[in-house]
Amino acid sequence: MDFITVDFDKSIDRSAFDCKIHPALNAYITQQAGQDQKRNVSRTFMYVEEGTLLGYYTLANASVALDSLSKGQQKKMPRHPIPAILLSRLAVDRTAQKQGLGKRLTADFFRRVRVVARHSGVALIVVDAKDTDAASYYQNKLGFIPSNNNPLRLVLPTATLLKAV
Ligand SMILES: CC(C)(COP(=O)(O)OP(=O)(O)OC[C@H]1O[C@@H](n2cnc3c(N)ncnc32)[C@H](O)[C@@H]1OP(=O)(O)O)[C@@H](O)C(=O)NCCC(=O)NCCS
Repeated sequence: MDFITVDFDKSIDRSAFDCKIHPALNAYITQQAGQDQKRNVSRTFMYVEEGTLLGYYTLANASVALDSLSKGQQKKMPRHPIPAILLSRLAVDRTAQKQGLGKRLTADFFRRVRVVARHSGVALIVVDAKDTDAASYYQNKLGFIPSNNNPLRLVLPTATLLKAV
């Protein structure tokens, strides 16, 4: 499967990365992503053009309690904590925003979900939206549904993604 991103690489300069809106996402890629990578806490994938980091996203595994799902999504799910993959961060540098890279990175993330879901149980895809604009993007454009206890944590059954392919 082809990806537009590469594995986290500490030799790629991250110091100038600026997604403008959320400083925490700039701090994460410059200060924290490498450590999380080393400790196997998460995996970060970078989009690089001519040596410049233009975007990244971060994945981890998660488990979701049944009662945090909407009533519709609870159907056909097991009672015990449900295995999920979490898109914990996604950001595009200010110089590359509004040119379609966010959408391409989201598609790249979905391709990785399909690979993981072939090798391990992943019943749900979870995204942590940074703000209500991001949450409505995931909800209205991609069909994610907010979880009961956190409107910025949204969930999509993996089956929905696999059916769409
Ligand atoms: C949100 C963000 C990733 C979108 O990247 P982008 O390359 O500018 O987006 P695109 O050019 O592909 O698409 C533009 C539109 O889709 C939205 N969008 C696309 N992918 C998105 C994504 N994965 N998450 C949220 N919004 C997204 C954009 O907000 C924008 O909406 P609009 O057309 O109504 O203005 C980018 O603006 C960014 O890094 N923002 C700061 C960090 C952030 O808010 N991350 C949100 C995810 S938690």
